[in-house]
Amino acid sequence: MGPKDKVKIGNKPMRVLVTGGMGFIGSHFVRHLIQSFPDLTAINLDKLTYAGNPANLEDLKDEPRHVFVKGDILDTTLLAGLFHEHHIDAVVHLAAESHVDRSILAPKEFIDTNVSGTLNLLSVALKSWESRGLMESARFVHVSTDEVYGSLGFNDPPAGEDARFTPNSPYAASKAAGDHLARSFHRTYGLPVVITNSTNNYGPFQFPEKLIPLTITRIMEGKAVPIYGRGRNVRDWLYVEDHCRALALVLFVGRPGDRYNVSARCELTNLELVEEIASLMDARTNPARASRELITFVEDRPGHDLRYGLDSLKIARELGWRPQVDITEGLSVTIDWYLENRAWIEGILSGDYLTFFEKWYGKRL
Ligand code: NAD
Ligand code: DAU
Repeated sequence: MGPKDKVKIGNKPMRVLVTGGMGFIGSHFVRHLIQSFPDLTAINLDKLTYAGNPANLEDLKDEPRHVFVKGDILDTTLLAGLFHEHHIDAVVHLAAESHVDRSILAPKEFIDTNVSGTLNLLSVALKSWESRGLMESARFVHVSTDEVYGSLGFNDPPAGEDARFTPNSPYAASKAAGDHLARSFHRTYGLPVVITNSTNNYGPFQFPEKLIPLTITRIMEGKAVPIYGRGRNVRDWLYVEDHCRALALVLFVGRPGDRYNVSARCELTNLELVEEIASLMDARTNPARASRELITFVEDRPGHDLRYGLDSLKIARELGWRPQVDITEGLSVTIDWYLENRAWIEGILSGDYLTFFEKWYGKRL
């Protein structure tokens, strides 16, 4: 917990299954759990797709309270074995196919992991916790996205927890289906599910297919930075560690059956954001040519949502969560991390990444 979180967590030992814990948010979340809760063990189940990277948790490789298991949430036998062997009493479900552009190229994997995988996990948790009498005390946190609410107009108020679902990409539709399943398991079977919907995260260890790390790494290489359309689309940016503190609060004190939005209320157009990154980078590296000149407007993403923005008054009011990192500080930390971790970047900018990049940007750049 951060110093400003008012909710105090008891000393109850917990054995938390974190799915997708080698991905971007998952690895920050596992680290947050291990560092903040000395009685807690994190069982980290990750398939290690292109987005899962053990280097993200290199610092925890000898930590006995971090147990990594390579596996797929589609494997029901594996899941049942993990619940039994590790006495799992909480799940934080982050495993997903997470990139919108990839969902446009190949939607099926998104349905497999984000819908069928979520259903498997819910079903195995239900069976295990019913048989062990844990239906009151256990928790299943389903981690979702603002994209399920669909696109806002420029003048709309930010979306609240009761906003209508209008997912527009195959990714968003698969996440919406997962949310509905999670909610239905609470309503139908009494599974202690809590759902979170957060805005766009950023920070160290983010795979450089997403806008912020893509921009930073392209500028580092002196290459064109692709912006879809005219760069007028708006996203609401959240520093990943602020998100992790919210997830921990929801895990320990969130109300089963409820949904909590998580937003730092930081809306920027893509062009504003990329220009800010360029200027923060130039202040550090002093290049011969201003990095903003690398900005290249390219063919738009099909179905591109105009604007996301969330109202997260509920988690502030009920759980005492507040974001602690503003965008300038968050971007600065993130940029410094990428500048200092070229080996991590080089480990990624190969193989699958290059295949995807060519397929998606080949005709754009
Ligand atoms: P990510 O793509 O960086 O990581 C996903 C992880 O899931 C990877 O480690 C991958 O190996 C693992 N995984 C994928 N399929 C799996 C499977 N079948 N079985 C087991 N593991 C599997 O994603 P992220 O950006 O860290 O997002 C994590 C979660 O948060 C996702 O559910 C995403 O929808 C949600 N979310 C992300 C954002 C964001 O801005 N990144 C915002 C809101 C919500
Ligand atoms: O809103 C939360 C969501 O944020 C998460 O649920 C997703 O997992 C995550 O991928 C992210 O989705 P976005 O589509 O908003 O993120 P992305 O970084 O892909 O794009 C951010 C904005 O930047 C979006 O308006 C598209 C634009 N963009 C993106 C890329 C990759 C560009 O203009 N050029 C690009 O090359």
